[in-house]
Amino acid sequence: MSDAYTTLTRRLADADPDIARLIDDEGRRQANTIRLIASENYVSQAVLDATGTLLTNKYSEGYAGKRYYEGQQVIDQIEELAIERAKAVFGVEHANVQPYSGSPANLAVYLAFAEPGDTVMGMSLPMGGHLTHGWSVSATGKWFNAIHYGVKRDTGTVDFDEVATLARTHRPKLIFCGGTAIPRTVDFAAFAEIAREVDALLVADIAHIAGLVAGGAHPSPVGHAEVISTTTHKTLRGPRGAMLMSTADRAKALDKAVFPGLQGGPHNHTTAAIAVALHEASTPDFSKYAHQIVANAKALASALTERGFDLVSGGTDNHLILIDLTSKDIGGKPAAKALDRAGIELNFNTVPFDTRKPFDPSGLRIGTAAVTTRGMTEADMTHIAGWMDDAVTAARAGKEEALDEIAAQISDFCAQYPIPGWSA
Ligand SMILES: Cc1ncc(COP(=O)(O)O)c(C=O)c1O
Repeated sequence: MSDAYTTLTRRLADADPDIARLIDDEGRRQANTIRLIASENYVSQAVLDATGTLLTNKYSEGYAGKRYYEGQQVIDQIEELAIERAKAVFGVEHANVQPYSGSPANLAVYLAFAEPGDTVMGMSLPMGGHLTHGWSVSATGKWFNAIHYGVKRDTGTVDFDEVATLARTHRPKLIFCGGTAIPRTVDFAAFAEIAREVDALLVADIAHIAGLVAGGAHPSPVGHAEVISTTTHKTLRGPRGAMLMSTADRAKALDKAVFPGLQGGPHNHTTAAIAVALHEASTPDFSKYAHQIVANAKALASALTERGFDLVSGGTDNHLILIDLTSKDIGGKPAAKALDRAGIELNFNTVPFDTRKPFDPSGLRIGTAAVTTRGMTEADMTHIAGWMDDAVTAARAGKEEALDEIAAQISDFCAQYPIPGWSA
């Protein structure tokens, strides 16, 4: 057990040494490796603290002032504060902070504004969209008639001619924009123009880029998309949760869909932690952080390109980079496993027009939100690209001991950049 265990975790160690040891192991793993998973981050100690409070004890079905359980004197204030902060940070008329996570938040959007069997449209999963944008294996693909757009083969960016043609042909009720593996700026205005033309409701899923939007490092969907869905745990750097935001006229339908449509009691400890994260996101420091995420991603993209990695769309505008490993002669899965052994955590991913199977696709997806939280800057990105290149080369040559040597170097390197919630 590490010496600098927090008081909280020490108490946990007394009560349940098995789980405490595993949490400690996970802390060490998180601290000693480079986290490049594009959807992950390290939350602040304040967010961790709020998450671990007795607010978890309370049931609060309903909304402030209209609950189905008594004893809401304090919970109402917490939820209202979270809502006010969300409205201020994103400049929206309405916010609902109760969705348990991004997938239920998106499901609530369908419940609010579509009927089963209706036509909906989103980016296809292999092109960068999310499962909940109507992909076939998701409930949203099974219960709705989902049409998908993709990216252009030559540029790797959204094909707006295709979006317009599909929208005119199929007249979807909902159009989702945004996604889970999009390295370029989402052109909300272009989507809005098409949605207006076909009388569709535009839903901007900003789960990945919410922190960049909050910090002014990505254009806002406000004024273009009437409904905005986001997780709170990616670039926004809050607890695992989600929010739905909208214009005032969409508020009632959204709230009804979240509760009682889809969920029961909100997770009040998460609501409090979302409020804390939003408070952090409203500061000038967070804006600096958001811009540094993008600067780091651009630096990492350049360094990888110099080392012969092909990047989908040729680079990045945001926190995310999609690497096509085809020219490196290694699959995404073996590369991801080798990099994990070398101390670089990321995920294998399909690339647009992938010829390989989804469980061993051609790509890797990486992001810079987490390393930027640790204080790493552009110069560090050059080192990371070097280690990635060395690890991929070692993996191709089957040199496992080389991967272990890289892991040792990375562990030393990471010691300069402590993470909240754990120290050696
Ligand atoms: C764009 C997008 N929407 C929704 C989700 C779903 O979020 P969750 O995993 O919290 O259900 C994700 C998660 O990766 C995402 O990337």
